[in-house]
Amino acid sequence: MYKKFVSTFAGLATGAALFVGSAAAQETVEVLHWWTAGGEAAALNVLKKQLEEEGVTWEDMPVAGGSGVQAMTVLRSRVTSGNAPTAVQMLGYDITEWADQGVVADLSDLASKENWDNVVPTALQKFSKNSEGQWIAAPVDVHSTNWMWANKKIFDEVGVEGDIKDWDQLIEVLDKIKEAGYTPVAYGGQPWQDATVFEAVVLATGGPDFYKKALNDFDEETLGSDTMKQVFDRMTKLHDYVDPNFSGRDWNLATAMVINGKAAVQFMGDWAKGEFLRADMKPGEDFVCQRFPGTEGSVLFNSDQFVMFKVGEDKRDAQLKLASAVMSPEFQIAFNKVKGSVPARTDVAPDEFDACAQKGMKQLAEANENNHLYGSLAHGYGAPSAVKNAVFDVVTAHFNGEYTSEEAVQALVDAVASAR
Ligand code: GAL
Repeated sequence: MYKKFVSTFAGLATGAALFVGSAAAQETVEVLHWWTAGGEAAALNVLKKQLEEEGVTWEDMPVAGGSGVQAMTVLRSRVTSGNAPTAVQMLGYDITEWADQGVVADLSDLASKENWDNVVPTALQKFSKNSEGQWIAAPVDVHSTNWMWANKKIFDEVGVEGDIKDWDQLIEVLDKIKEAGYTPVAYGGQPWQDATVFEAVVLATGGPDFYKKALNDFDEETLGSDTMKQVFDRMTKLHDYVDPNFSGRDWNLATAMVINGKAAVQFMGDWAKGEFLRADMKPGEDFVCQRFPGTEGSVLFNSDQFVMFKVGEDKRDAQLKLASAVMSPEFQIAFNKVKGSVPARTDVAPDEFDACAQKGMKQLAEANENNHLYGSLAHGYGAPSAVKNAVFDVVTAHFNGEYTSEEAVQALVDAVASAR
């Protein structure tokens, strides 16, 4: 009797396991992403939880490396070997390049049901759709790169008050900080980080039209101009303010230097804010957020979007659940508050966000209205990857002293010409 019970129970258990197994297999998303820093992982958790509430199991596929350089390498090898992930975090031109390969799933039905056309900023839609106008990505945030983050205590100690308006004022402040014995600039020497600082300096030095002509349109005359030489000279100047161990440092470790009061400022996109918040620091009280000096009025944007690969009909439902979760206004509020970014929807009220994010949302709307909203080159919204990487190489080589400013200008013109 007991034996019979055991075997029946075992049979039932196997049946149940099989049933649960197949249901779980249908409702699993494997997500390739590069959100491994503290603030990033915390934001990702908001998404994981939301999906789990909807019965979708999250299979994590993190590939560390800021701006997704390494993640994109892994993605290429996964797709080439016929083993694409269900969903992938992606930026700008990477999205449209994959769409051109015909390997990503069409989300248009969901998009029209949920009215994405009317709520997603137009600047993003260009990258969320394929050449036939089908929606192929769900944008989760809008980040921007021309920010400066500062340790308020150090600023108070050396007597810096209010916003730093321009380059000359910035240099005065950095000199004061250096004299006070701190590392003025927390710097991570990796190509994408060099490029993040470089694009802010391009905007600060040449102004908005110059930025657009140089790093969105790649106009040869602009790239080869005296103003561009001045940009490289300014990068050399910034080198005076970094510590000797900058080379190869991850961006979040540079942020930690500002958080811990070892360094005064970091020039980085607003994902850095996620780190300050995680350290329980308050904008305006413990840390300062302001635009990179001299770039107020313009916004260099990038947006993380989720792209679904064509991996079979059995994954379709989970993919749509993920896309729909990502686009829901409540989710966008919860996620972006933690991530440091702002929502990728125009219909979300700013009330629940901190002062820094509210400033960011207002500036984004104004820059959009005044045509001063530009794609960040360093984060995939300025050019396809070949051109982007060509610029990275020159900027990094120059920062590390391999080129004079004059040589860098010529190398930039040549590298862009051969990559296009
Ligand atoms: C950006 C991305 C952000 C953040 C950052 C550092 O490209 O948009 O979400 O993760 O890289 O990794």
